[in-house]
Amino acid sequence: MTRHARIAPSILAADFARLGAEVARVAPLVELLHVDVMDGHFVPNISLGPPVVTSLRASTDLYLDCHLMISDPIRYLDAFAEAGVDGVTAHIEAIPDPGPFFEEAGARGLDIGLALNPPTPVASVMPFLDRCARVLVMSVHPGFGGQSFIEGSLDKIAELRETIDSAALQTDIEVDGGIDLATVGLAREAGADVFVAGTALFGSDDPVGAVQHMRTIIETSREP
Ligand code: DX5
Ligand code: ZN
Repeated sequence: MTRHARIAPSILAADFARLGAEVARVAPLVELLHVDVMDGHFVPNISLGPPVVTSLRASTDLYLDCHLMISDPIRYLDAFAEAGVDGVTAHIEAIPDPGPFFEEAGARGLDIGLALNPPTPVASVMPFLDRCARVLVMSVHPGFGGQSFIEGSLDKIAELRETIDSAALQTDIEVDGGIDLATVGLAREAGADVFVAGTALFGSDDPVGAVQHMRTIIETSREP
């Protein structure tokens, strides 16, 4: 079965002063945008919050996939739902018991994801896969764009792929961090469905060409 592969540009690497124009350039080629929210507590960096998402929502119809690198994701669900996100992905390290997050996000009509950091074993999210639209495998330590892909993430993706397929679940596997023309094919071959890319797209002189090139690599890679 060919699984539907999607490239998710990460706006963290865009020029925030020209965000609408940067997004408009790649929008015709993609289905979703990856929006990194950092609180300076769960991760050692601060990025953006609901006001920026509100502006983004007004400028694009793309699916907004909100990656919450924050210590208390439930507290901000109302704000992000009102800002117009479509999906929220919180970290299992921040909410080891994600039950209340599922309930609160579900009550607001949001798609739900769980993310795991490089040192966190996949076993931590396995019990919850059937309640997730996506599981996000961090392939760098969260907090900053432009880092190198951690190869050990491939084994985690492969293990998730096997579990999801053998249980006939629909959960997407999203990979985030260091995805570029050299690593995207490896992540596809391990079994990822959604490929987050920031620097490789917005840091390129030709973001449109970079998306197209990445898509060609994905399409010509072997699926597991
Ligand atoms: C890192 C963020 C990533 C980041 C990826 O904490 O979660 O989404 O934007 O950036 P690149 O593609 O530059 O590694
Ligand atoms: Zn992210």
